[in-house]
Amino acid sequence: MESAASHAESSPPPLHVAIIMDGNGRWAKTHGLPRAAGHKRGAEAVRRTVECARDMGISYLTLYAFSSENWKRPASEVTDLMALLRLYLRNEIANLDRNGVRLRVIGDRSRLGRDIVALIEEGEVKTGNNRALTLTLALSYGGRQELVRAARALARDVAAGRLFPDDIDEAAVAQRLFTADMPDPDLVIRTSGEKRISNFLLWQSAYAELVFLDVPWPDFGRDELEAAVRDFHRRERRYGAAAAG
Ligand code: FPP
Repeated sequence: MESAASHAESSPPPLHVAIIMDGNGRWAKTHGLPRAAGHKRGAEAVRRTVECARDMGISYLTLYAFSSENWKRPASEVTDLMALLRLYLRNEIANLDRNGVRLRVIGDRSRLGRDIVALIEEGEVKTGNNRALTLTLALSYGGRQELVRAARALARDVAAGRLFPDDIDEAAVAQRLFTADMPDPDLVIRTSGEKRISNFLLWQSAYAELVFLDVPWPDFGRDELEAAVRDFHRRERRYGAAAAG
């Protein structure tokens, strides 16, 4: 019989990995640096992780880069995060494109700066045909807000006579989420020790395996991603059914 270790080695990678990138602030504090330095190192970890995910054959990587709730942070920190994001989009899109990575952004774009929205749209068009990896950045994103938006879209369709209430099923909801054309995440990773979902992909993570790591996001890299995937392979996914044998 195949051992658990060799099974993990030979198993295909999860199709979709989603990450709650937490701990930039704590990393900075530990190193006696301002929070902005932690976010800067966090952006470097994003670059590393995208490369590793692609090398490992993961098809979808979704990163929680800025939540709906992050708007409540001090204005100076929001400005720092937006500046980093702007820099990332300016510097990385050509690189993503060269590496066959398709960029997508989910979340409420109406709250983002116009120049950032323009960079996003440009990046999505430029990389739209790439298939090695789909990198989705969740920006100004909240799972509850996404569900409210879907509920409004359903209500509009019913009010307009395009949809009967009894025809609303799981597929009808899923089709109205930002992630309509993406598979659900198989694995959700959160760094830096907290064990919460924090309004991330609430609907889509219904059956995801959750892996919580103690490492702060700026220290995340290939070893941590591989360890989380090994952990994922050791688990038996049953989707609510009985155990086999
Ligand atoms: C959590 O650290 C991290 C965030 C607020 C979002 C992630 C942002 C980045 C990785 C930087 C830029 C992103 C891109 C895509 C270029 P925290 O501040 O909540 O840490 P703490 O809980 O230790 O204070």
